[in-house]
Order: sequence, then C-alpha cells, then structure tokens
Amino acid sequence: MTTVRTGRRVAPGPKGAPLLGSLGSWKRNTADFLLGLQRDYGEIVRMRLGPMTVYQVTEPDAVRRVLVQNHGNYVRGPLYEQFGVVMGKGLLTTDGEFWRAHRRTVQPVFLRNAVPDIMPNLVEATGRMLDEWERKAAANEPVDLMTDMLKLTLVTLSGSLFAHDIGPFTEELKDTVDDVVTVMFRRGVPSEMVPSWLPTERKRKIAQIHRVFDRLVAELREGYAKTGEGPLMDLMERATDPDTGKPWTHQQIKDEILTIYLAGHETTAVALCWTLLSIAEHPHVQEELDAEIAAVLGGGTPTAEAAESLTYTKMVVDESLRMHPPIWIFPRAAVDADVLGGYDIEAGASVLLSPLVSHHNPRWWDNPMAFDPQRFTPEAVKERPRLAYMPFGAGPRQCVGNLMALLELRVIVSMINQRFRLSRIPGASLGYGSPVISLRPLHDVRVTPHPRPRAASAVQDRAAGAPPAACPFGGDA
Ligand code: HEM
Repeated sequence: MTTVRTGRRVAPGPKGAPLLGSLGSWKRNTADFLLGLQRDYGEIVRMRLGPMTVYQVTEPDAVRRVLVQNHGNYVRGPLYEQFGVVMGKGLLTTDGEFWRAHRRTVQPVFLRNAVPDIMPNLVEATGRMLDEWERKAAANEPVDLMTDMLKLTLVTLSGSLFAHDIGPFTEELKDTVDDVVTVMFRRGVPSEMVPSWLPTERKRKIAQIHRVFDRLVAELREGYAKTGEGPLMDLMERATDPDTGKPWTHQQIKDEILTIYLAGHETTAVALCWTLLSIAEHPHVQEELDAEIAAVLGGGTPTAEAAESLTYTKMVVDESLRMHPPIWIFPRAAVDADVLGGYDIEAGASVLLSPLVSHHNPRWWDNPMAFDPQRFTPEAVKERPRLAYMPFGAGPRQCVGNLMALLELRVIVSMINQRFRLSRIPGASLGYGSPVISLRPLHDVRVTPHPRPRAASAVQDRAAGAPPAACPFGGDA
C-alpha cells in the first residue's frame, strides 16, 4: 500500500515493481486486475503503469466530477492517443473547439426525434438475417453469433446513416475492424523501441486498414454525390469549419466516418451478442420476454413507438449492458490538479473510468455476477446513484449514438425472439478473457437457432386481445 505523504491525501493502491509499477498485472489480465483493485483498495485507487500515474475512479460522485462537473479539466490524454493511429482526428479522439464543432455537426441524426428514422433499415436488415437463420436451421447449420451481429450492425449503420448498401464489403470490413483492435493495442510490443523507419507488421497492417477505409469513404462520398441521400453524410458534406468558413476537408470527413464506424458497430454487436446469450441461458427471462413481446408486438413488425413499450426487454438490455458493458474502460488525463473523493489527483495524471468495474461494485449491485433484469425496475434505478451505471459514459462526451444503440438492441432482440429460440452450442468457455478495447466474447460463440412456430405468437397475440397482425417476414400470422 502507498504511504500517505504529509499534508496530502494520497489514494491507496498497489505498490508495484520498481520502474514498471503494476504494468505486469495490467498486461496479464487487465479486467481482473482492475476489478481486484476496487475490491482490495476501494473506489479511488492510485497505481503506476511504467512512467504513468493512473487513478481508477469508480466512486459515483467522483465519476460525476470527472465526466460532468469538472469535465473541462479531464481531456483525452495519452491513453486515447492509440485510437488516433487509425481514427485520426474524429469525435472520439479530439478535445476543445474542434471536438465541439464536430459534435454539433453530427449530433442532429442521433437525437431522439431523428433516431426512429433508422427503423426501415433496421427491420429490413434484421428480417433478412432471420430468413437466413431459417435456412440454416432447416439445414442444421449453427450460427456464429458474433459474426452475424457484426454484419447486422454494419449493414444497419451503413444503410441508415449513409444510405449505402455495404453488402459485398461486409466481410472485408469486419476483418479490418479485427485488425484495428490488434494494431491499436497490441500487447507486449513496445513500439516506441522500434526505429520509426523500420517496416513492421503493425505498420503494414495500419497501411492495409487505411486502404480498406479509403475505399469505403470513396464509395460513401461517390454514392452521396449521385443521390444526395444519407443523413449523416449530408450533414458532413454540408458542414463548414467555424474558423475558416470552408467546407470540411476530405480528411475531416474520412476521420469522422471511421470514428462512427469503429465506435458504432462493434460496440452494438458485442452488446447484442451478450444480451442474446444471457437470454438463452436464463429460461425465466426468456419466458417473461416472450410474454411481453407477444402482448406488445404479437407477430407484427416492431415500430419505434412499440419498442418504447417493451419495458421488460429494456430491462434485459440494461442488465446485459451492466454485466457486459462493451466499452468496459475509458481514460482521461487531468490538466490541472484536482481532488476526487478526498484524494489528490496531480496535474498530468491519467484517470481511468471503467463501466465494467463500476457495474460490479457490490456497494450498489447485490451479487454483481448474477444476471437479474429486476435491477432495472424504475424503483430499483431510483435507489442507486446515477453514475453507478454508465455503459455510455456521461456528460458532454456521453456516447453520441446511445439512443440509436438502445433502439437497435430492443428491436433486434424482440425480432429474434419473435421467430427463434437460441441455444448455445457447448464449446469453449464463455467469457471475455483479458479484453483489449471492447468486451467481446473471447471465443467464437456458436448457437443453434430453433424456429418458433409462427402460429404460437399469433395465438398469444389474440389471447392478449390484439387484432391479428400481418407477419413481417412473409408467412401467415
Ligand atoms: C451498445 C453500444 C454502444 C456502447 C456501449 C457505446 C459506448 C460508448 C462510450 C462509453 C463512450 C464514451 C467514451 C468516453 O467518454 O471516453 C462512447 C462515445 C462515442 N460513441 Fe458510443 N457506444 C455504443 C454505440 C455507439 C453507436 C451506435 C455510435 C454511432 C453510430 C457510437 C458513436 C460514439 C462516438 C462518436 C463517441 C464519441 C463521442 C464524443 O466524444 O463526443 N457509439 N460510446
């Protein structure tokens, strides 16, 4: 334990090794290490990672100070720099006026009144995937859940924000995103020790990633030039720089497209994957979900308003985002010294916020390893401080796509449950290992989709007093 220096309150934390500090434990299994810090030292923990002083902050009032009340003092900092290698200068990686102007530009398509516009694309893409699952079920073929969720969120994002049919590009883009994760946070290679002129595997991969994304950006811009369609593309193509009054450069548009693709599709896919697995492994949750979906939707296509009425489905999604927050950790750097939870934070220190660690804090979550949607009844939510739960961050830098992600999750989960039961094919253990950026399942997750008799949902539908609805996927309701 670190000793308290006279006149200052130094947060407790591991002593670590000379020079490296706790870098060894961090690299062995970052999630386990950080969860252990909260257990052993509390909600504000000081550690050294090589030359950096880092604080893990999970105390809700202190989290509020970092993300909301004193957010101007907490910038992206060195731990975010790795993102810039691929994303350049986009919403996720920048601060100050540049960030503010970009956020103002893209925000309109992510607001509550605009998000329902994604519905036609979302319903269509999900329906197509489920038709394919029907074919797979008939042929006794398993579904690779993570792969299908990545494709689905990619198709939905491209269609609804860029009016672009990503179709043939999907596979390549999915693989490229996998590469992005490895190049941004490759473990064990101190890249700063390799001379900058030396060609490395990492540099080759980065160049390859940029070639793929350059093609994507060119396709999106050409498509827009021809049709004028795609709400997000439209905002960016018409945006001007507040300083110069000039239109955004190609680089600005490219960096923002990359940011939206990288921040938007994998996160939602990871959330879907865990939500569907949790439902499959908890039969009582499955039953309650069935009853709600039958009562609210029957066999009909979800609408954005109907999705709002799926209150239990929302609780299931919220609980899944608690247990498996896709962005499980994100950093800041303190510009000036500050005090958090009574402890000194020195200027220049890094601050780590971790939805995963906060969401497993036994002070707010009884038996945190158990999946229990009842934690999200309105009464239960009122009992907790708001920032004990933060799958989308908080404050001005809160996830710009949170409403879109939540709508996608509710709609896709309900459409899958209308037509299928999923059972996981036993194989490698289910877990996230030592996650890097997002909390993806460590191994491939294969499930068997069992088609539900279509009539069943119609019978439940009528029993619930709703008029018979047309089946959205072509069969008889
Ligand atoms: C379940 C799905 C998602 C999760 C869990 C998630 C989580 C997060 C979190 C925690 C942050 C804050 C990071 C920080 O403060 O440092 C963030 C920021 C961001 N997210 Fe999401 N996200 C999701 C979906 C999306 C979607 C669908 C989009 C866009 C289509 C998106 C775009 C962004 C962008 C651009 C930022 C940076 C915002 C800014 O700094 O102004 N995200 N996300």
